[in-house]
Amino acid sequence: MPARLVVLVSGTGTNLQALLDASTDPAYGATVVAVGADRVGTPAVRRAREAGVPVFELPLAQGADRAEWDAELADRVSSFDPDLVVLAGFMKLTGPAFLARFGGRTINTHPALSPSFPGMHGPQDALAYGVKVTGATLFVVDEGVDTGPILAQTPVRVLDDDTSESLHERIKAAEQEMLVATVGRIARHGFTVNGRRVTIA
Ligand code: GAR
Repeated sequence: MPARLVVLVSGTGTNLQALLDASTDPAYGATVVAVGADRVGTPAVRRAREAGVPVFELPLAQGADRAEWDAELADRVSSFDPDLVVLAGFMKLTGPAFLARFGGRTINTHPALSPSFPGMHGPQDALAYGVKVTGATLFVVDEGVDTGPILAQTPVRVLDDDTSESLHERIKAAEQEMLVATVGRIARHGFTVNGRRVTIA
């Protein structure tokens, strides 16, 4: 049986698309069983619908109770019985209720080389700092902001004429490749976390 992935998204969904494309091959070992979004009407959700994958949209309303939203998110995800939850451009932090149920099997992709430049603006922050190499990091989600144990990283050179948009586009190309390859390996072999060190069998 392929591993069941629930993918959480907020925006364009190019990383989701890479997973949807990869999982059309039965040898990949994983299949996207649902996609959840914290916004209504995202391109990512359109991609999921086009692929025939069930979706749910769960925005966090202004002034709403964050803990309730987090518990509801955990319930919705749980209803699809995932082996692995993949945050692919999901711009919210998962909270205690979510991690109590899915901690250790929730992974996130971030467009910078951790521990540098956590947060919402990885490419922009890397460019502003003047680094010559940045990239993307796939990690196991913990309570922090982009702080969890690292599953994989991929480097991307910063070019003299880069804007944050052009840099992010190249990061995303490398990121998708890393995401697809690593999720496939995890799905087929599993992984173990020992302190900060992660081994994919
Ligand atoms: C990706 O680069 C992802 O790493 C980033 O948003 C982009 C989503 O692209 N996530 C974060 O910055 C989270 N801190 P996509 O919607 O086209 O997959």
